[in-house]
Amino acid sequence: MNGGGTSDALVIFGVTGDLAYRQIFPALHAMIRRGQLDAPILGMARAGSSLEALRERARQSIEEHGDLDPAAFATLAARLQYVGGNYEDASTFEALRAALGAATRPAFYFAIPPSLFATVASGLARAGVAGDARVIVEKPFGRDVASAEDLNHTLHAHFPEASIFRIDHYLGKEPVQNLLYYRFANSFLEPIWNRNYIDRVQITMAEAFGVRGRGRFYEEAGAVRDVVQNHLLQVVSLLAMEAPGGRGTESVRDEKAQAFRSMRPLTPADIVRGQYVGYREEEGVAADSQVETFAAIRLHIDSWRWAGVPFYIRAGKHLPVTATEVLVELKRPPVTLFEDCAKARPNHFRFRLSPQVVLSLGARAKMPGEKMLGEDVDLMTFHEQPDEMAPYERLLGDAMRGDQTLFAREDAVQEAWRIVEPVLGPCAPLRPYQPGTWGPEEASRLMDHGASWHNPAQDWGGA
Ligand code: BG6
Repeated sequence: MNGGGTSDALVIFGVTGDLAYRQIFPALHAMIRRGQLDAPILGMARAGSSLEALRERARQSIEEHGDLDPAAFATLAARLQYVGGNYEDASTFEALRAALGAATRPAFYFAIPPSLFATVASGLARAGVAGDARVIVEKPFGRDVASAEDLNHTLHAHFPEASIFRIDHYLGKEPVQNLLYYRFANSFLEPIWNRNYIDRVQITMAEAFGVRGRGRFYEEAGAVRDVVQNHLLQVVSLLAMEAPGGRGTESVRDEKAQAFRSMRPLTPADIVRGQYVGYREEEGVAADSQVETFAAIRLHIDSWRWAGVPFYIRAGKHLPVTATEVLVELKRPPVTLFEDCAKARPNHFRFRLSPQVVLSLGARAKMPGEKMLGEDVDLMTFHEQPDEMAPYERLLGDAMRGDQTLFAREDAVQEAWRIVEPVLGPCAPLRPYQPGTWGPEEASRLMDHGASWHNPAQDWGGA
């Protein structure tokens, strides 16, 4: 059973892999620097590596990240242990048990392909180290409803849901948490946060780069599996959820799951799929690949709060900028008193999730002068915090403390797959687009009458 208490060891399966290199080592280094990690760290990998090689890899990873602190690194290197061996062999897990020593509540980070989860989970159970442990797994959690269900069965065979930490690093981002905070820390929002005042919601996650050498991975994923099913639907759930009934972890996750349940499954008519010109020449990509690197989606939420309010979601590689922004557009005033307002921007909230963190309320205000003419103004807060905690650092710390608030719960993950399943794969025509553009033209046809996509600027203020 899993109660409170901090994990007393961190075991990383797949420690020589890409995820450990890109995210886990820098996060461990940052945690040690902040004095927030004093447990031993055990790196597991198939045989063939060594402790020295592992330390060197950790050093390179942190140096590449750009901020190696010699004292923190020395502590990390001293805490690292290496256990190599085949995951099929009981002896690997016996060696792990011996290395765990007196630790009774380890956290196991599965930085390995999901196809290995069953083998590793049962190896841990047979060695008698699964009992009080926590397990941390990465997105994507499954690739459709059925495979996510299978993975859940596999993990639940040895770990209760309270011990499973499904990472979606978006949930560890400061501005994403701010969505929840802003919505429920302010009373002025609630009366207007519904179909009576809101016309539509748009979310754009634009990336000005391609698949960055991850062609092989991306061929198995595509934009919908890679970022819509998880990151962007999580953002929708935070925007759409009802106020939690209590203060505990589960009350937030309950409301999010309820929001997911009221999202209507997508149909092929709700998606425009695009692929950037040049994708098929990327390493690991098929010459006739049908995988989408761009998706524009229209989502409906069948709830009393949101019925009739479309949520437009757009994500793509090789777009003109790298920025993620939410735009909540409000209805226009019922009567146009001032003519210059007829064509002005509607009132709106804009939540900039990256690269800067900005929260803005777009309104009209009169320009000084004789005439009753107005201008668009933004009432906003802006912050860029250089020492901000990176998502992986926050999430690893939370998992080791047993706090599940920022992790995806089984039911929410299943619901998210239910919503996107009808548009996975080649469900609709694939439209080519030139790198550096906002994707295929057809994306604008998804929009309701009178609406158009809001294109975030690279630097806040330009759009
Ligand atoms: C990952 C996706 O989950 O999120 C990537 O696999 C994407 O394709 C990345 O680039 C974006 O995350 P961030 O934090 O860089 O905005």
